[in-house]
Amino acid sequence: MITIIAAIGKSRELGKDNQLLWLLPNDLKRFKQLTLGHAVIMGRKTFDSLPGILPNRRHIILTTNPNYTNVQAVVAHSIQEALEKAAETDETPYVLGGGEIYKLALPFADRVELTIVESTFEADTFFPNLPADVWQEIFIEHHPADEKHAYAYSFHTFTKK
Ligand SMILES: NC(=O)c1ccc[n+]([C@@H]2O[C@H](COP(=O)([O-])OP(=O)(O)OC[C@H]3O[C@@H](n4cnc5c(N)ncnc54)[C@H](OP(=O)(O)O)[C@@H]3O)[C@@H](O)[C@H]2O)c1
Repeated sequence: MITIIAAIGKSRELGKDNQLLWLLPNDLKRFKQLTLGHAVIMGRKTFDSLPGILPNRRHIILTTNPNYTNVQAVVAHSIQEALEKAAETDETPYVLGGGEIYKLALPFADRVELTIVESTFEADTFFPNLPADVWQEIFIEHHPADEKHAYAYSFHTFTKK
């Protein structure tokens, strides 16, 4: 059971200049709840964008660089290798992005946990389309903007038909 987790704008925006585009504490909370204790697969650029290792998650970093090493993480050089390494310790790993890695992982994924931020943003990285003949939405939860959340947002779960 492979889950992709992402937060996107209304035009599927993911990030710009290797950074996220919003700060939504409830989305971070949900991200932590879902991914804690799991193997997490990410591209080298997304890993570089993090302030550090995410606690209590086994990190698998995808890179094309054969010399890349990281003492706190497992390194993989293809999505298949990343998924195999994840499966060594976790039956339900999460793919954390970014844009390049979501595209590679989508054919292997069983579930997508998507946060949609109800605004449009200037971005240079986008989430791939989820074709309606392949993916069905099984959960949706709307949240209005409030003093801690500058934008309205909604949580969606998709599974493969
Ligand atoms: N909104 C969200 O939920 C979310 C989540 C994650 C990331 N993001 C955003 O997304 C952006 C980063 O995404 P991105 O698409 O630029 O980069 P990325 O997907 O994080 O990483 C790309 C890197 O992955 C490696 N890679 C790609 N294809 C590979 C393959 N077939 N085999 C092995 N390694 C491979 C390469 O690393 P090397 O260059 O080292 O070879 C490549 O440069 C940032 O703005 C980040 O903030 C947003």
